[in-house]
Amino acid sequence: EVSHVILTGGVGSRLWPLSRQSKPKQYLEIFSDKSLFQLAVERNRLFSKKLIVVGNTGNKDLSERILKNIGQDFYVNIVEATPRNTAPAIAFAAFSADPEDILLVTPADHIIQEGESYQEAVEKAIELAKEDNLVTFGVQPTSAETGYGYIEFEGERVVSFREKPDKKNAESYLKAGNFLWNSGMFCFKANVFLNELQEFAPEVFKRSYEAWQTAEEGCLNSDISMKIPSISVDYAVMEKSDKIKVVPANFQWSDMGSFEAVYDYFKSHGYTTDSNLNMQLGEIKPTFFVGVNNCILISTKDANLVVSKKASQDVKTIYSYLEQNF
Ligand code: GDD
Ligand code: MG
Repeated sequence: EVSHVILTGGVGSRLWPLSRQSKPKQYLEIFSDKSLFQLAVERNRLFSKKLIVVGNTGNKDLSERILKNIGQDFYVNIVEATPRNTAPAIAFAAFSADPEDILLVTPADHIIQEGESYQEAVEKAIELAKEDNLVTFGVQPTSAETGYGYIEFEGERVVSFREKPDKKNAESYLKAGNFLWNSGMFCFKANVFLNELQEFAPEVFKRSYEAWQTAEEGCLNSDISMKIPSISVDYAVMEKSDKIKVVPANFQWSDMGSFEAVYDYFKSHGYTTDSNLNMQLGEIKPTFFVGVNNCILISTKDANLVVSKKASQDVKTIYSYLEQNF
């Protein structure tokens, strides 16, 4: 049996001020008339009987409202007291599933072109997961991004997995040609994942299990959760395991991870820029860019942001600053 596990704990800080703590990017309806969260649930219904939502106290209502609206009556809701990153989040889902269940783990905040290519890739991944592999989805890289994981591959086999390399390494991977970007989606049996987690990150396994066992109605205890090491699945398991396989992600994919990605998305969907490649997003009003290029203006009711495209990864520092000072 296949379960769709949707990870929806992030705040999308690199998309501030569009993305707010009260409404993180996966709940925004700016990319289509449906939120990214809703699109992710609908896209994966085809493959899975069960839905497991792993979110937090702050977004529980946002998720529940959407699920109710689309008639998704049955789902398991795991509510984290504090974010501990994706390795623990996936472990909670795996503990709640049957050991032999196949988990299709997806972020809540990506834009993916659903259709035949997507279906083919997921079906292939499910087949490989049945054979006790940890399956990743590999995207053809187009630049030396440092915010992604890189998968060194030979056919289906993964030679190595390198999470968030520095610029120099990212450039060499891009040049080498036998590397793919990790899409951030995974597929594996619950028990295969948990065995690898126990082997390569025993403390994460143990502390996550404690938190899971003491949860009340799916809500994790805050003090116990604080003891779980905060680490992503990429560092904790994917870089270490030799059971990793990759299926090519031959579908349109964007993780909307920064305003540069949002810019690219809107540009390819007919949004206009001025002749110096500046763009405005959010509340559109007459705006003129003079003597600047490759800038994005994001305008909202109570805050504006002007960001140079190449600095778009740095927006999260503003977010942390505001978080600490206001
Ligand atoms: N429930 C829960 N709890 N969800 C979380 C938590 C958490 O503590 N932390 C992150 N998430 C969710 C985010 O909302 C997002 O949907 C997903 O898990 C991935 O987390 P990100 O924080 O967005 O990861 P990333 O973008 O830095 O890196 C991952 O994705 C890249 C592609 O977008 C990695 O898997 C990279 O290897 C990959 O290339
Ligand atoms: Mg991300």
